Amino acid sequence: MNISINEVKRIYKPKIKPIEWRDGKLVILDQSKVPFETTYVELHTPEEVADAIRTMKVRGAPAIGITAAYGMLLGLLGNMTRISNLDDALRALEHAKSVMDPARPTAVNLTWATGRMLNRARLSISNGEARSVRQLVDVLKAEADSIFNEEYEAEIAMGLHGLKKLNNGDVVMTQCNAGGLATGTGLGTALAPVKLAKALGMEVSMIVPETRPWLQGARLTVYELVMEGIDTTLITDTAVGLVMYRGMVNSIMVGADRILKDGHVFNKVGTFKEAVIAHELGIPFYALAPSSSFDLVNNVNDVKIEERDPSEVKLIRGVPITLSDVKVYNPVFDVTPPKYVTAIITEKGIIYPPFDKNVPKVLNGGGGNG
Ligand code: MRU
Repeated sequence: MNISINEVKRIYKPKIKPIEWRDGKLVILDQSKVPFETTYVELHTPEEVADAIRTMKVRGAPAIGITAAYGMLLGLLGNMTRISNLDDALRALEHAKSVMDPARPTAVNLTWATGRMLNRARLSISNGEARSVRQLVDVLKAEADSIFNEEYEAEIAMGLHGLKKLNNGDVVMTQCNAGGLATGTGLGTALAPVKLAKALGMEVSMIVPETRPWLQGARLTVYELVMEGIDTTLITDTAVGLVMYRGMVNSIMVGADRILKDGHVFNKVGTFKEAVIAHELGIPFYALAPSSSFDLVNNVNDVKIEERDPSEVKLIRGVPITLSDVKVYNPVFDVTPPKYVTAIITEKGIIYPPFDKNVPKVLNGGGGNG
């Protein structure tokens, strides 16, 4: 389908606004309460941003990145009485970065965004664009807005590339929530092709695993898809094998928290299992992510997989489901080796194996390799 990004902007309007800069304040939709409550939270400092990321009021790799970008701006605005010159301002930004970066370790978008903001500040000071703290604030506000807008356009481009993998009547299975809540823009990565398919008049349905323990699938993906009028079926995580075996799934589309140069995909725990079963049954498995989710430096064993509090496993919405003193292991991401990945879909094109050759080629040069 030959359709431009501007055309998509005209026919598709996001139904949610999970992150907004409103009157000099950062306002986020509290995702820990969705779908039962629609509560917006104002964030005023990098410390509050770090806490919102840690407690998953905002979650999903690109959304974390965008929130942290505005968090850098808050590092200046929240400290204006103590910042009297550009050196003070740079120190405040370095501090803001050091406060937010450790909030969650797996999604690379967090450090990518704070690094980009800090570099932009340094550059604007060295090239004379920012000659006062006030001017630096304006430069950084524009940079954070660009990170947001670039993400949205990347998602539209990914959605259009992903559409090439969909046929009318297809059923797509996902994992977790890689929709507009997870990216902050209202569109999403893995959900973009299906949302655009719907906007263009195609019939595509989705199967959504609940995604224990935090239930991003049951709470967030179902909420988003139903709001878009997309036919949605919720399953337990333990049913993914059967639904694929029974021929109920045409393809898998998931997001990613980090993709390595050799094609290893870090995403919500449970993704690996889907990929292996899909591979065994000949079902295509696609990971969709913007270039800000790629890590071309680290190797698979260097990446920290976040482990969260045992209470997330021992209780469901505050209700105990096991013995209180049982030992718990709660890794919240896993890694899918490249051999199970049919293709990686980015805003720059569709990347096919061999990934170690094609990931750098496509990311640096643009244009898919297939
Ligand atoms: O723990 P979460 O909810 O932040 O995990 C989110 C995911 O695993 C998403 O699939 C990923 O961030 C991609 S978001 C477009």
